[in-house]
Amino acid sequence: MNQLAVELNTVLQKESPAVYEMLSDFGKRIYFPKGILHQGAEAKAKAKKYNATVGIAVENGEAMHLKCIKKHLPALKADEIFPYAPPQGLPKLRELWKKKLLEENPSMRDKTSSMPIVTAAIAHGLSTVGELFVGKGDALIVPDQYWDNYPLTFCVRNEAELFTYDTFTPAGGFNVAAFEAAVMKHGMPKKKAVVILNFPNNPTGYSVSKADGEALAAAIKRCAEAGINMVVIHDDAYFGLVYEDVALAESLFGLTANIHERVLAIKLCGATKEEFVWGFRTGFITYGVKSANAEAVFGALEKKTMGSIRVSISNSPLPSQTLVLKALEDADFKNERKEKFEIMKARALKVKKVLQNPLYNEFWDVYPFNAGYFMCVKLKKSSAEALRVHLLDKYGVGTIATGEKDLRVAFSSVEESQIEDLFTCIYNGAKDLA
Ligand SMILES: Cc1ncc(COP(=O)(O)O)c(C=O)c1O
Repeated sequence: MNQLAVELNTVLQKESPAVYEMLSDFGKRIYFPKGILHQGAEAKAKAKKYNATVGIAVENGEAMHLKCIKKHLPALKADEIFPYAPPQGLPKLRELWKKKLLEENPSMRDKTSSMPIVTAAIAHGLSTVGELFVGKGDALIVPDQYWDNYPLTFCVRNEAELFTYDTFTPAGGFNVAAFEAAVMKHGMPKKKAVVILNFPNNPTGYSVSKADGEALAAAIKRCAEAGINMVVIHDDAYFGLVYEDVALAESLFGLTANIHERVLAIKLCGATKEEFVWGFRTGFITYGVKSANAEAVFGALEKKTMGSIRVSISNSPLPSQTLVLKALEDADFKNERKEKFEIMKARALKVKKVLQNPLYNEFWDVYPFNAGYFMCVKLKKSSAEALRVHLLDKYGVGTIATGEKDLRVAFSSVEESQIEDLFTCIYNGAKDLA
């Protein structure tokens, strides 16, 4: 094993033995080399006369570029667009994102957490975490309402084994007891569990209540006390889009970050959905651990994460990072975000109102929802796939079949004024098939 990997592993073994045990084989081997990037970063700070290290081309003191590209981004400097970003992301962006996290997640304020590391959005954050912490035969435990990219990432790619539990209790709350039982059952054999908590949830558009969130954190702690190393991944892709007061507005990461030595809390979030810049591909990984020397643990984890990024995409796109940074610095940022939030909330509330139509009871039940981009119905008669295809063919309406009977509707992409008609089409389609 490379000496630099040995050094990082030694830090983890000393300061957080459980986190060391959680690493996959790749996670143990990976390190960030003192190679070109390291030397280049040193030169950037010190080479004031000539910097002959950079792997880009320079002309007239700025990044060489084509005018036919630059002219589309007149407000930005060439050096804000064309060079490589550091593998861990722009320092100022990381700093402002951390500030935003602390502002928007009060529970994080008295906890220790790492600086966010920039990824090419959350899907890349998931695959990076998979590479570092998920190995063959590890138990991946998710609610039965999960985003289908999870098994693709962690099971197909990292060879974890998928276990699900009932998402909801019969009363419509999050099924914390089922979560705990699944972790105890499937995590105990290897003394390791990888769990994903995704609120607001894709596909149901559900966010937990404060009480259920606290109960989940307490369950995680009990599982750790029972000896299970817990890799707790918070997929906060839809963070901030919570429309009802009963649902917890902040990330559960604030509750799990320093909860037990055997818990590694990982927050994945990003500008993609929150700031409506899906194609920009800008996301973040933030770690939370309980350790007497958390900073040393974060340092080692950051280097390993940078190594993983270096061997996959090398670094995340700079133009996107620059634009997200400019937004965070902009005095209008909060107001503009609030405006879009209100539009999404109005759509969600309209869906709720439309769904009160008693005619619909014959064809579907509605899964609890209060947040995010989506809602889901459980069909009573036809299969979800048959209805999906029929809706497309006869009504020109696109929906997603997420299970045998589950149909997902993205109200995020339909205007408020169209929602009633959308559900009339779905109802008519269901009636046709019945
Ligand atoms: C639950 C969930 N997590 C992560 C993602 C991926 O987000 P990103 O575009 O930031 O990679 C999605 C996108 O659909 C999602 O629904």
